Amino acid sequence: QPQYLIAPSILSADFARLGEDVERVIKSGADVVHFDVMDNHYVPNLTFGPMVCKALREYGIEAPIDVHLMVKPVDALIPEFAKAGASIITFHPEASEHIDRTISLIKEHGCKAGLVFNPATPLHYLDYVMDKLDVILLMSVNPGFGGQSFIPQTLDKLKQVRERIDASGHDIRLEIDGGVKVDNIAEIAAAGADMFVAGSAVFNQPDYAEVITQMREELAK
Ligand code: DX5
Ligand code: ZN
Repeated sequence: QPQYLIAPSILSADFARLGEDVERVIKSGADVVHFDVMDNHYVPNLTFGPMVCKALREYGIEAPIDVHLMVKPVDALIPEFAKAGASIITFHPEASEHIDRTISLIKEHGCKAGLVFNPATPLHYLDYVMDKLDVILLMSVNPGFGGQSFIPQTLDKLKQVRERIDASGHDIRLEIDGGVKVDNIAEIAAAGADMFVAGSAVFNQPDYAEVITQMREELAK
């Protein structure tokens, strides 16, 4: 059985007490901090940047930080996020003029690199870069907001990407983001995902450990 990673999205955390809230979710059993960066240009919402990532590191958060860049342009932020303590940096191929260059830039700065596919973004962007990727992230909602419903067509897309990863022989995480809940995580895993972003499902519940435990139970079935 694959080693599954649960990555709560801090988009739904309490921004006024972010350090405490992130510490609590990690102590509740989360593996990775999912960090949604939005610029009110590539997506119609505005969140936080490298300063907030750095502040979480200074607060003492040691878990991997998975920076999901929903910004255009992308490149100038990469050195900044690497300095701020990012572990993984993912970006949307449509938001980069030179996808191969952006991937190289992420890796040169010592981070793991990933491409993100919106629900209607075709997979051909994978064609010439598979061997450079550490993560492939499929969006199962249109990016910009937490709390949306999982788009079911993503299951078929996950299966296609899972086949491509297995055929490539590379060690690539298949991450899913948007509308992941206790009641659909098993089906999403069966389609091939091994890293699960969950924002509202975790942070909108009083007991984070209970939700994360329920997710792991679903994944163990
Ligand atoms: C959406 C973000 C997601 C979002 C997921 O643009 O990339 O990470 O926070 O939120 P939920 O889990 O509530 O769908
Ligand atoms: Zn995200």
